[in-house]
Amino acid sequence: MSMRTAIGDIPAKEGQEVSVYGWVHARRDHGKLVFIDLRDRSGVAQVVLGPKIAGASDLRLEYVVKVTGTVNARPENMVNDKLPTGHHEIFASGLEILNPSAEMPIPVDTDGYDINEETRLKYRYLDLRRERLAKNLAFRHDTVRFIRGFLSDRGFLEVETPNLTRSTPEGARDYLVPSRIQKGDFYALPQSPQQYKQLLMVAGVEKYFQIARCFRDEDTRGDRQPEFTQLDMEMSFVAQEDVMALNEELLIALVAAVAPEKKIQEIPFPRITYKEAMEKYGTDRPDLRTDKDDPNLLAFCWVVEFPFFEKTDEGGWTFTHNPFSAPKPEFMDDLLAKRNIGGILTTQYDVAMNGLEIGGGSIRNHRPEALEAVFAIMGFDTDRIRKNFGHMLEALGYGAPPHGGIAWGLDRLVSLLRNEPNIREVIAFPKTGDGRDPMMGSPAEVDVRQLKELGIEISPSVKKENASNETH
Ligand code: AMO
Repeated sequence: MSMRTAIGDIPAKEGQEVSVYGWVHARRDHGKLVFIDLRDRSGVAQVVLGPKIAGASDLRLEYVVKVTGTVNARPENMVNDKLPTGHHEIFASGLEILNPSAEMPIPVDTDGYDINEETRLKYRYLDLRRERLAKNLAFRHDTVRFIRGFLSDRGFLEVETPNLTRSTPEGARDYLVPSRIQKGDFYALPQSPQQYKQLLMVAGVEKYFQIARCFRDEDTRGDRQPEFTQLDMEMSFVAQEDVMALNEELLIALVAAVAPEKKIQEIPFPRITYKEAMEKYGTDRPDLRTDKDDPNLLAFCWVVEFPFFEKTDEGGWTFTHNPFSAPKPEFMDDLLAKRNIGGILTTQYDVAMNGLEIGGGSIRNHRPEALEAVFAIMGFDTDRIRKNFGHMLEALGYGAPPHGGIAWGLDRLVSLLRNEPNIREVIAFPKTGDGRDPMMGSPAEVDVRQLKELGIEISPSVKKENASNETH
């Protein structure tokens, strides 16, 4: 009797006594009879509370209660076809209020799109109660679970890599973490596990993946968050085709498993060169959907043959994607000789879907002289190369296997599969457009004592700026 029944399971309990626990999702007080819709994670069901049930009229939205009662079939004319439990209701014999709720600052029985986002994020723990977001969390879980199973079955090891690390040149600004013990020195939060995963290849792991948190201090947009999640992977003894084939297989299997209502427009995924993409579509992540009104159509494509280097504003060279990439084999001599720099093509492959870049990777330079040539072309002197990348060059010198990999933007993929307009809808606790968390109130000032311990002082001009921001 005291066993808890999940509300979604009540259709299977007709005629039985059950105890259900959950939140008051809706209430209709008809005087003698009080009807509530009771919600738990598994569903919503109607509860009927008769005049003998003490406390029934005290119930308000989002109170947490325990209801004991009998599961009855509803009369034919009272069936609610909109609810999976709508052929049944619970006739209460007992009610216990486990916790009342203050008046809700936001409704949670709607899709929530129309609610001011600042308020949604301030009360994210309530916002997440809405069915749409609860389903997004569950879908994300299913996605990650499928990926873990698929890759594990193929011999991949999931390995965690550090978040306190050293700045990696991934193209964005680093988040820095001051060191207390080495005053004046800083860790950087990883923009991706790029170097670690390559070092795992040197270590002989051969097949690595990780659901990895990445941190980039860049301007936030709908498809960008300061911290986001990658499905990161790396493999040894593979060529470009191997990585692409495995990822294509995984994406197809994933869609079939978690979003079977979706249709992939073209299999195998079409491949398009960077040049063609720019000429034909003016973007390197083209939206190839033939019917853009169909919310269930997925048009994946691979974009390949990117130039390795591009000119900087200062007239030097920088990498277009990833400094650790290898050139296409036919350009290796050019790279080593540092000639035809603008013409060198990289092994980079991006995967785009419906106009968003959802992943990218490459085969890497596994010989130290090739990696050194990349940095030399970017104008780094030998000293700087040794200082910043000495560990990578040294590691590659100890029999590093040929290797390559890829990383997917997991938030982006999940948001597309859920038809959500931005990635914040599929992240439990995202940041606002200007990088704040209105719920926790972060970022926030810290105690002067904490700063002192770190040997850090906030410059008076910053303090003034903050003070004037507060009064405005
Ligand atoms: P890249 O920088 O292309 O590659 O990142 C891989 C994928 O991550 C997603 N992404 C983001 N998603 C949300 N918010 C962000 N700020 C954000 N930035 C990137 C994109 C992108 O395609 N180490 C390499 C991968 C490799 O070469 O293996 C890397 O990080 O979907």
